[in-house]
Parts: sequence; C-alpha cells; structure tokens
Amino acid sequence: MDKNLFYKDNPGEDGGVTRRQFLGRAWWLAAGILAIEAVGGLVFSLWPRTKAGAFGTKVNIASVEEVQAMPVGTVTYFLEQRFYLSRVESGLLALYRKCTHVGCVIPWLPDDPSEDDLAPKGRFNCPCHGSLFDRYGVVHAGPAPRPMDIFPVTLDKDEVVVDTGTIVQRSRFDESQVMLI
Ligand code: FES
Repeated sequence: MDKNLFYKDNPGEDGGVTRRQFLGRAWWLAAGILAIEAVGGLVFSLWPRTKAGAFGTKVNIASVEEVQAMPVGTVTYFLEQRFYLSRVESGLLALYRKCTHVGCVIPWLPDDPSEDDLAPKGRFNCPCHGSLFDRYGVVHAGPAPRPMDIFPVTLDKDEVVVDTGTIVQRSRFDESQVMLI
C-alpha cells in the first residue's frame, strides 16, 4: 500500500502531514477512544438497572386510607414485588414469599383452614415440604426453621411504602414488626 496516501515524509504545498504529525494524531485518536470507553463503562456500571416499582426497590403500594379499609385478615399478593401484604389487627406486615426452608415460593391458600385467629380460613402452605405459616408468617408445621422474612413498611406522606430491597430475618413474631395504621 502506498504510505503516501496517509502521510508525506516532507509536506509540500498541498498541505500533507509529516510522519511525526500522522503518528501524533493517531496516538491522540486512540487515547480519545480509550477515554470514551472508560467513561462509558463507568457510567454503565453506576446506572441503576432496576426500574421503579420492581422487586428490589421501594414500592408505593397504596394510600393509608386504602389499607385502613382492608378487613383484618386480608392477605394481598404483590406478584412482581414478591411479597404478601398481610392486614393484621394492629396494622400491616409485608411477608417475603420465599420459604425459609430451601427457598420455594410459598402460595397463599385462602380456602385452607386458618393457623391464626384473625379469620377462619387461609394460610400459607409451602408445596415443597409442607411448611405451614399463619398471617403473621409464623411457622406452624413443617421443616421451615423460622418465620417468613419481612420487608420494612413505612409511610411517605399518605402513601404506604414497602422496601423490597431490605430483607429482614426474624426468629419469632413480635408487635414491633407491624407497621401500625
Ligand atoms: S422449601 Fe418450603 S418447606 Fe421446604
């Protein structure tokens, strides 16, 4: 290939560049490309990948008025956010659906006999090894070693917010776990 297509050893009146100038420009071009790649990679790695409202984020689930209107004993499934909202006497619990035995998804069975005294029917019944949980997420039978994990529930002005990015393990139920409404 004719190197003079790219540079000239001695620039003439036609405005060609010297070998030194050509190499200098090529070096700066390569350095610029590397810098752009480095900055792009940094921005990509820091960019949040979870969309608002998805599992792993803080989720606005309802207004205080709406949850106050739920009858005690109501269990509502938030499928994409992977938790159940359990309306207990004093307030709300957000129960993670993942079984504390080996991690199966625990379904809520509204027609099963109840394991608590909030309603005559309904309990969580893990299909994998038969662990049974009540509306507080407390274990009543089976190999699950502890109650269902919970997510913190807070208020943001008039909205009830569940933080699905913070899994809280517990060894038993106590009232401090309930968000009072
Ligand atoms: S995974 Fe639920 S009882 Fe085993």
